[in-house]
Amino acid sequence: MSEAALREPNPLLVEDNELKRSLGPVSLIMMGIGAIIGAGIFVIAGTAAAQHAGPAVMISFVIAGFGCLFAGLCYAEFASMIPESGSAYTYAYATMGRFMAWFIGWNMVLEYLVSSSTVAVGWSGYLVSFLDNLGYTFPAALANAPVTGTGFHELHLTGAIINLPAVLLIVFLTVFLVVGVSESARFNALMVMIKTGIVILVILFGLPHVNTANLHPFIPPNTGTFGHFGVTGILAASGLIFFAYIGFEAVSVAAQESRNPRRDLPIGILGSLAICTVLYMGMALVLTGITDWRTLDVPNPVSFALGKIPSLEWMVLPINIGAMVGLASVVFIGLYGQSRIFYCMARDGFLPPAFSAVHKRFRTPHRGTIITGVFAALLAAIFPLDILADLVSIGTLLAFVAVCGGILILRRTAPRAKRPFKTPLVWFVAPAGIATCGLMMFSLSDGTWVRLVVWTAIGVVIYFVYGVWHAAPSKWKVVNES
Ligand code: ALA
Repeated sequence: MSEAALREPNPLLVEDNELKRSLGPVSLIMMGIGAIIGAGIFVIAGTAAAQHAGPAVMISFVIAGFGCLFAGLCYAEFASMIPESGSAYTYAYATMGRFMAWFIGWNMVLEYLVSSSTVAVGWSGYLVSFLDNLGYTFPAALANAPVTGTGFHELHLTGAIINLPAVLLIVFLTVFLVVGVSESARFNALMVMIKTGIVILVILFGLPHVNTANLHPFIPPNTGTFGHFGVTGILAASGLIFFAYIGFEAVSVAAQESRNPRRDLPIGILGSLAICTVLYMGMALVLTGITDWRTLDVPNPVSFALGKIPSLEWMVLPINIGAMVGLASVVFIGLYGQSRIFYCMARDGFLPPAFSAVHKRFRTPHRGTIITGVFAALLAAIFPLDILADLVSIGTLLAFVAVCGGILILRRTAPRAKRPFKTPLVWFVAPAGIATCGLMMFSLSDGTWVRLVVWTAIGVVIYFVYGVWHAAPSKWKVVNES
């Protein structure tokens, strides 16, 4: 099947709306790493070890990593067949029809927009402890969520006013994104190098201090409550830790801005996932090996753990800075991905045209980017990290399950379509992806499930009020080669 046959003419796409094709394979891997390494490893890993799995959090990393690998292999096949912005949303539209496309796209708002807010909140925590290192105490009322509460009905006010640093970070990055993606990609590459460098330093300097006594018992016995240590604790921790891997598929969102999407997207997705998995395993070993895992439930577990080793105290400041840079780069990619998904959805008619307007000079979807920034900033201003993170994970896992299912549908409906990248052992990999991601979804709390249902209900209402009247048919039609 030729490119021309694959891509049907799109009446909505005029020349002016084409995004600039400026990204190669290295930029895409950088973009993946930029999206992956963030609050998951720098903040949530400590909580997962201290509250759920102990040193066995390493097994949780393996489980979550396998779920992502399976889903990543399916993403790569889709991304190579449908080299178009929009990621799972576009894939769902090409294979599962209009309603499913909207459903997935709507849940991807959780994955991108809400994760930007989540990580911005994590960034705010590191900023406060960084300023603390320098002897300045940031007013707590201006750096914390005014609302908190784990259960759905337990939301209450905290007395704080706003998480101001998180809001300012989002505003700053939104301006960067409006100005242009290639400048932004360079900015991202720099941030990625700094945070990856810090992670490698932590592993290299931390490993010699690993005390095997800290790793025993490797799987602390279950306390009698589901999810508190033992096997169910490992599972619950994998649901939390999954957040750390979210982002590799952000690479596929950049298809329209990539120079050779069919070759480079699979390289970007799988390459960034592989590099991060290795780094996470090393980091988890160091964190639980150099200190008592029970003490890791703090906003800055990495600098906290290394700071306890007298000869490594000098690393606390660079780690705090590296973490801030790392978290900022994740927020950046989240905002980027969300604006591109909105762009695709608006171009397909699911959302008003403002989301697909492209700035004449900057060639970026400026209005959608600004709207994304405003909503992300509002969420970050109001909610705490744990509420936001769990919502992000469940929405993302749902999108992963859909992508794994979609790839199987496509193998049946278009078995002879051209597949520049073929998911190996697809009849094992895709069902295994559905099973692993489904298991992680079920390990998340009831409150998170309720929020997912509420979110979906809002999405269904918007669909029937707007999308169903305006959406054009999918311009992607995957057909068999004759
Ligand atoms: N994987 C990203 C993070 O850990 C979302 O921050």
